Amino acid sequence: MDRLKDKVIVVTGAAMGQGAEEVRLFVEEGARVIAGDVATEALERVAAEVNALHPGHVLPVKLDVSNGEDWDALVAAGAAQFGKIDGLMNNAGIGTKGVFWEETSYELFKRVIDVNLWGQFRGIQAVVPEMRKCGGGSIVCVSSLAAFVGVGFNAYSPSKGGVRSLSRTASVTLGPENIRVNTIVPGTIETPMTAAMFGDSEIVRRCTAQNSLPRLGRPRDIAYGAVYLLSDEASYVTGTELVIDGGQRFKG
Ligand SMILES: NC(=O)c1ccc[n+]([C@@H]2O[C@H](COP(=O)([O-])OP(=O)(O)OC[C@H]3O[C@@H](n4cnc5c(N)ncnc54)[C@H](O)[C@@H]3O)[C@@H](O)[C@H]2O)c1
Repeated sequence: MDRLKDKVIVVTGAAMGQGAEEVRLFVEEGARVIAGDVATEALERVAAEVNALHPGHVLPVKLDVSNGEDWDALVAAGAAQFGKIDGLMNNAGIGTKGVFWEETSYELFKRVIDVNLWGQFRGIQAVVPEMRKCGGGSIVCVSSLAAFVGVGFNAYSPSKGGVRSLSRTASVTLGPENIRVNTIVPGTIETPMTAAMFGDSEIVRRCTAQNSLPRLGRPRDIAYGAVYLLSDEASYVTGTELVIDGGQRFKG
């Protein structure tokens, strides 16, 4: 409790999966959350669920992370509502659902980069002026094990590789202003993004066999790591990568 007391944190992709769980846990830990997503109905449901327990703690805002105007509007609305912004969980992302390199068009490649990489870059651009007013802040970017190992050669892996570089570069540039930037690298996590896979017991068995630990990941596994990086417990941690993958990267 209270590990994020008094923090105001933007969470992108907050309507489902890891983002929704991050909203829940961050509020349990004392934060107020500006929750952004394109899926506005699902977003409203998450906000209503959390606000029923913690009134006024979640502000849902329609956000397409690839759209700069949406970002500026979200930051203005969030700062007006809560008075400041000192955290950013750059979580929103899209997969490519079985499309491999032979079928990847320019349009698909560009869309994946726009959301997964430009979306995180634009988020940093949007929140940094507010963090400066606070004298610092914490940004967490979400990459993927797909940036480390060959798990399908398509637009997704390069977009997540770009996130690793973005996050490291931002940590160097923003460090002197006491703005920390770190990366979380999830392994296989059960969310709507991976629902088809989790519905097939043979695939689940094979993927679990690729892990050191005897299970696959849950959204809360990622949210716990994010709480640490966004909290003052990590005040000397920047430019690092927290891999949360059940050991998959060594065995898979
Ligand atoms: N699930 C996994 O196994 C896994 C593994 C490695 C990395 N990741 C990464 O973790 C993050 C969260 O993934 P998840 O599994 O919870 O995915 P998910 O598909 O379950 O949820 C993603 C959320 O992002 C939202 N979103 C999509 N495009 C958006 C846009 N343009 N603007 C704003 N919101 C948008 C969706 O509406 C959804 O609410 C993503 O960056 C993903 O690439 C996931």
